[in-house]
Amino acid sequence: MADNERAKYLSSNWRDGIFAGKVVFCTGGAGDICSAQVRALVYLGADACIIGRNVEKTERMARSMAESRPEAKVLGFGAVDVRDYDSLKSAVDRCVKELGGIDFVIAGAAGNFLAPITQLSPKAFRSVIDIDLIGSYHTLKATLSYLERSAAKHRSDGLTTPSKGTGGRIIFVSATLQYRGIPLQTHGCVAKAGIDTLSAQVAIEFGPRGITSNIVAPGPIAETEGVKRLARVEGLDGDLSRIPAGRFGSVKEVADATIFLFADTGSYVNGATVVVDGGSWRTQGVSDSKAFPYPGFLLSRNIDDNAQYTKL
Ligand code: HXC
Repeated sequence: MADNERAKYLSSNWRDGIFAGKVVFCTGGAGDICSAQVRALVYLGADACIIGRNVEKTERMARSMAESRPEAKVLGFGAVDVRDYDSLKSAVDRCVKELGGIDFVIAGAAGNFLAPITQLSPKAFRSVIDIDLIGSYHTLKATLSYLERSAAKHRSDGLTTPSKGTGGRIIFVSATLQYRGIPLQTHGCVAKAGIDTLSAQVAIEFGPRGITSNIVAPGPIAETEGVKRLARVEGLDGDLSRIPAGRFGSVKEVADATIFLFADTGSYVNGATVVVDGGSWRTQGVSDSKAFPYPGFLLSRNIDDNAQYTKL
């Protein structure tokens, strides 16, 4: 494998093989961010199962990830919608049958679009809540028994690196928009705020069983669907001075946070949020957007003209 290819997905400080013999299950695994998270774990020894709605895209991504490391097994199950619990549970059970268990879970499936409340039908609002929040809950429920089993085998005393490595860990992929709120994203903000709380509850109820549950909250990450959709609303189109780090992030930086939480480095991190945004959410405000200057665009434009949002 070419080192420069690997460097796109993880920092060089991680030791090869730290996830050998481990299995990661990931929803939304063909997406820009989740695929990078999973690929990084595969580089470090894990086998993986990714699921998604699009069959071709999911299977193609799984094949590509499997090429990251000789011997890697990566399953890609398409036509699985996290809104459908039974179909998700079948995928989880098939993953366990073919790969032997589940040690790590990434609940990453998400759906989004720009729309003000006036353009958000009850069904549209429910779709995003169903995919992001209910889908995350479904993912947790479907994998929990396997996470418990893995956690029992991989307890850490905090002093020595567990000889069998780590396991029994879940990451929910969230966002930062909900911390301050932003127009056109009521559905996304409500869904992500729910996910943040869900993760904290899992930490409280399952921490005693050795499971860790944490949030990874990516900010503006270059070349992702999220940033393509949201940068103009956040005022980041052409003005990176609003990001304390002065640049967009990379998927590698989200993958590094994932490795940190799943490896022994994350053994005592539970119920936490790792924000990977270059400090961005602290400095952005609703009035920063040139495309949507606040509050003028809400007052002056024809708010019933949905075309102005959907073209973005
Ligand atoms: C208003 C919209 C809309 C839009 C869809 N809807 N797009 N309403 N403005 N731009 C409405 C539809 O009209 C319909 O309601 C309802 O949403 C459901 O849409 P469907 O087309 O029936 O399909 P469904 O599969 O339910 O749609 C899921 C979706 C869609 C989320 C709405 O956009 C989607 O599949 N997106 C692809 C995945 C995606 O978005 N990935 C981005 C991830 S990035 P009516 O009442 O009209 O029938 C990301 C970063 C988030 O999530 C970070 C911040 C939170």
